[in-house]
Order: sequence, then structure tokens, then C-alpha cells
Amino acid sequence: MSELNNIALKIIGKGKGILAADESTGTMTKRLSSVNVESTAENRLLFRETLFSSNSMESCIGGVILYDETIKQTSPSGKKIPELISKSNSVPGIKVDTGAKTLANSPEEKITEGLDGLRERLKEYYKLGARFTKWRGVYTISKKYPSELSIYSNAHALARYASLVQESGMVPIVEPELLMEGNHNSEDCLKKTSEVIKKCYEQLELHKVELKGTILKPNMILPGTDSDEKVDSLKVAEMTIECLKNSVPSEVAGIAFLSGGQTDKEATKNLNQINVKNKTNFILTYSYGRALQQGALKFWSKDIKNIQGTQKIFNHRAKMCSLASKGEWSEEVDKI
Ligand code: 13P
Repeated sequence: MSELNNIALKIIGKGKGILAADESTGTMTKRLSSVNVESTAENRLLFRETLFSSNSMESCIGGVILYDETIKQTSPSGKKIPELISKSNSVPGIKVDTGAKTLANSPEEKITEGLDGLRERLKEYYKLGARFTKWRGVYTISKKYPSELSIYSNAHALARYASLVQESGMVPIVEPELLMEGNHNSEDCLKKTSEVIKKCYEQLELHKVELKGTILKPNMILPGTDSDEKVDSLKVAEMTIECLKNSVPSEVAGIAFLSGGQTDKEATKNLNQINVKNKTNFILTYSYGRALQQGALKFWSKDIKNIQGTQKIFNHRAKMCSLASKGEWSEEVDKI
């Protein structure tokens, strides 16, 4: 088990976080279409390879979460993608859930699928070089949601997933994401996120998952996107820390937040404030998808051959997130 703890600590070591590049082909197609780039396997690889061969990989990115298509791809220069990532001393990871589907008997909610055949798929991913994995449970916040059914069934699936992943010698990222969409306020988000996370750990413990060989990937505590409430980063930090203190067992190796639709600057600023205020022993870092990639993607889309220019944007954002993970970021250093 200390081996799993070592992997976890390598991924989220000081000044490091995770690049979540595990968008499914459907999601990646949406992202590429939004910047008018055709979503072919070659273009998806080209953009991702551009990021994975950036300088900041070595200093700021401890792990990269890949999608099934990418972990099996080889770059035009002949390098297998997991090898390209390991070459920067970063750990290759893989999303193993197969997506969120309608929850029977609560059709406005989702249950994440992917347990069938998981043990066999994990063996294959391990052989391909993966040493950690991700599974995302998704919850909506409203007066009646998330329901007890959604909280229980997603926690149960996350625990079954995490135990299989540890059995296969990899570190599971446990990701319960309460979505930002809705008119809920930050208090609602705090209350419901705490409830969801507590239930996850109840199930993880029942399934005998070794917590020091896991990483939690939660949302920050924020008001819904349709709420009138305005919160500054200090309030986000205080509420987020309160939530984690009251719901996450101390054995957990570390916590890496998702960005969840915040702008890259907001996600950086909030993470920084969280670390400035952090008095817990938890490592608090990033596992960002959009907040690490959106600037680079926009730039790249204008000239997909401009690798260096794209890497410059990515390197800057990764560096800013790295500083934020140490509470050392400021508006001044973020000026490009
Ligand atoms: P975002 O940071 O864009 O929310 O993506 C992180 C992620 O992996 C969601 O599952």
C-alpha cells in the first residue's frame, strides 16, 4: 500500500497538480468545434501532444489523465503517449468510467457507469503504462437534489471502482462533482457537497479502500451560475476548507480540485486563496481540464501548426496553477 501512497504523492508533489486531458471524444469534439477546428483523431492528438511535450510538464504536472483513445495513440515522432508523459517525470493516468447515464427512478439525475468488465480493462491500462485512474460521479444541486438515491448509488459505484483500481496496483481518483449549474447559493453547495463526500467515504471504508492510496477530486464551494450571490475568493477558500475539514478523513493522500466551468483566472485565484488559508495537513492542488487548457486551445485553434506559441500559453497557466498550489500566486505574476 505504501507503493500506492508513493504514486499519489508523486502526482501531487509540491508545486505539482494534474492535467485532466481525458475529455471523451464527444466532449473533445464540442471543445474543438467551439474554436472551429475539425475533431479528427489526428487533431485531437496534435493538440494533446503539444501540451504533453511542453516544458511545464516536468515542473508543474505530476500526472495526466488520458482518455481511452489517447492512451493507445502514438505521436508522429513515434513515441507512445504514456511514454511521452513519463519522460517528463509525470505519471500517466486514465479515465475508466464510461459516462453518466440517467438514474432509474430519478430521471433528472445521473449515475456513472463502467463497472462491468472494469477489472479486465484495468489490467490492459496498467500494461499501457497507467498508474492512476479517474471516475467521476455527477450531481445536480437544487431543493430536492441530489437525492438520497443519487448520493448513495454514486458513492457505492465510486467505492467499487476504487477497490478494483487498488487491486490492480493503481491509485484511484475519487471524483464526486456537484455541478455549478443552478440558482443555489454557496451555503447550499457547502451543505450538499459535504453530504456527498461523507457518503463517498462511508462507502469507500465499507469496501476496504486504503485511503492513503487515493486522491479526492472535489468541486470548490461556489454559488450556482444562476445565483445572485457574489462571493470573493476569501469566502470560497473558507467554505471549501470547512467542507473538506468536516468530510474528508485525514488519511486521504491529497485533494486535487476540478475547475468545473470557472475561468482559468478564477480557478487559479481561488486555489491560491485556499492554500493561503489552509491550516489542515491536506495537500490541496489542481486537477484542471478547462482551466489549464482553454487559453492554449483558443490560441492553437488560430494556427494549429504554432506549437511553440501554444506551449507558451500552456506553460504560463500551468506555472500560475503551480504557484497557486503553494499559495504563492498574485495578479502581478499572472500578467503575461
Ligand atoms: P474541469 O477542470 O474542466 O472541470 O475538468 C476536470 C475534470 O476532469 C472533470 O471531470
